[in-house]
Amino acid sequence: MTPSTPAPADLIPPWGGRAVDLLVRDDARRRACHELGASAPSIVLSERSLADLELLATGAYAPLTGFLGPADAEAVLAGMRLADGTLFPIPVTLPVPAPVAPGTGLALRDADRELLAILTVDACFPWDAAREARVLWGEGADEHPLRDELLARPPWRVSGRLEVLRLPAPGPFARLRLTPAATRARLAAMGARRVVAFQTRNPMHGAHEWITKAALDEVGGALLLHPTVGPSLPDDVDVPTRVRAVEALVAAHFDPARTLLAVLPLPMWMAGPREALLHAVVRRNYGADHLIVGRDHAGPGRLRSGRPCFAPDAAQRLVAAHAHETGVAAVPFGEVVYLADEGRYERAERVPPGARTLALSGTEVRAHLAARRPLPAWFTRPETAAVLAGGAPRDGRCVWLTGLPAAGKSTLARALAARFEEDGRPVTLLDGDVVRTLLSKGLGFSREDRDANVARIAFVAAEVVRHGGVAVVAAVSPYEAAREAARARVGAGRFLLVHVATPLAVCEGRDGKGVYAAGRAGRARGVTGLDDPYEAPLRPDLVVDASAATPETLVERIVARLAGGAPGRGA
Ligand code: ADX
Repeated sequence: MTPSTPAPADLIPPWGGRAVDLLVRDDARRRACHELGASAPSIVLSERSLADLELLATGAYAPLTGFLGPADAEAVLAGMRLADGTLFPIPVTLPVPAPVAPGTGLALRDADRELLAILTVDACFPWDAAREARVLWGEGADEHPLRDELLARPPWRVSGRLEVLRLPAPGPFARLRLTPAATRARLAAMGARRVVAFQTRNPMHGAHEWITKAALDEVGGALLLHPTVGPSLPDDVDVPTRVRAVEALVAAHFDPARTLLAVLPLPMWMAGPREALLHAVVRRNYGADHLIVGRDHAGPGRLRSGRPCFAPDAAQRLVAAHAHETGVAAVPFGEVVYLADEGRYERAERVPPGARTLALSGTEVRAHLAARRPLPAWFTRPETAAVLAGGAPRDGRCVWLTGLPAAGKSTLARALAARFEEDGRPVTLLDGDVVRTLLSKGLGFSREDRDANVARIAFVAAEVVRHGGVAVVAAVSPYEAAREAARARVGAGRFLLVHVATPLAVCEGRDGKGVYAAGRAGRARGVTGLDDPYEAPLRPDLVVDASAATPETLVERIVARLAGGAPGRGA
């Protein structure tokens, strides 16, 4: 190995002596944060900020313990170090649209407006995204495919004490989304003294497989296959498809005793060398002491002008140069190509003169997939090709969750949507609270308005179903007639009415959005379950109690029912 190879991993990151974990566990403090969140100014996090929040909270970004403040952000941009000199290559900052006064408790929410964290602001500063672009992408900044996205981020940044109450909803493949601590524990249980991590944002093809196996042979120990599932380039293969593809490949062709597959919600800025160094720091937190760095690692491919953004080996050099600080050695690979006559992969520099080689660029791969042309057998294993070819069912379905406020419909709906995504089915989530901010904006809570709201949702759901998708609806939808009209509109055979019959007392005890409290205090009228009627469905396809079973259990019951299982009642 390289001379900078660190000692065998003890699987504990070298910085700070202890792992970072920002989740608030103390009940009193959690209650205080929720109370603060109810009245605090709030921001809805972008997908990228949600991913950053999760990585900060779990310690994946250790030694960071929060979004960067002005001095750290400046030092990271200028020299890949925090103000105290600790290596950290990418500025992890939190954009906000307008200045926030220091001392403010800022509520950080997801797109469903669920409270995830409280940030007690100690600094708010303007941010020069154009400069960030130049630093991350160098000469290629003007042509970089993420340039518009980076420059469109709001111009202010906030930092301060971060208290995390809940991780963002995991989406599909929650079972593969291991925290750093869980990953280290699994690796330790495998008895690995050395751990080689592999980063990808793609389905794994033949070259990926060859590289990972060659690296494992060279280093020994265990392989951490760690595909990223955070935002990356817009035309990348969608996350559920690529995770299913990797899972199928690993099941068929990797040694389970030496391989751990987990997904990483890391957002990618395609910043080549700096990003590769971040990958090393992050993988160290997950217990790896080696990182595979191939050609053009985390590069955006060729730019519009046809030139590369980064030198193909720049990432390898930068990761290797900092191995003593990160505790992660680079396992470098130049271009790997397929030897057509020998039927195997090889490093380009070892290809015998005159040998016939094959390679496909990322652009060529995308063209194959877009045209639904199968990828050549030399490039992709049949298990991967089968997943990429699609083939998920396209028989449209609507799952309509009805029930009292705070019955657990939204949580169940999110888990259901994630489950359908895992199967590769196109899903549309129609959550009543979200629908009312746009599609049904302006409607109130009279019977007429409630019926209009349900009719609008049914209209959209019917369109989704007609086009072969799955519509998951979570709406109080209190009236029998409106629900049955929705069933008729979508088509009775394609409609599954699930009554989320969580007892009123439980719903009121949860009261996530405070509607019952407002009703009891006389601040709100027409609260379903208190002074507004809820007509329990006369013909439910399924009745569930969200307080008596986990969302995962209920999801499996609904999926089984959809597949033709018997109607049922109970938890
Ligand atoms: S990314 O995360 O680097 O954007 P990608 O799937 O393209 O994802 O690459 C994953 C890893 O495999 C990177 O380290 C990359 O350099 C390496 N890699 C992919 N294909 C090849 C190849 N043909 N030759 C050498 N390295 C490769």
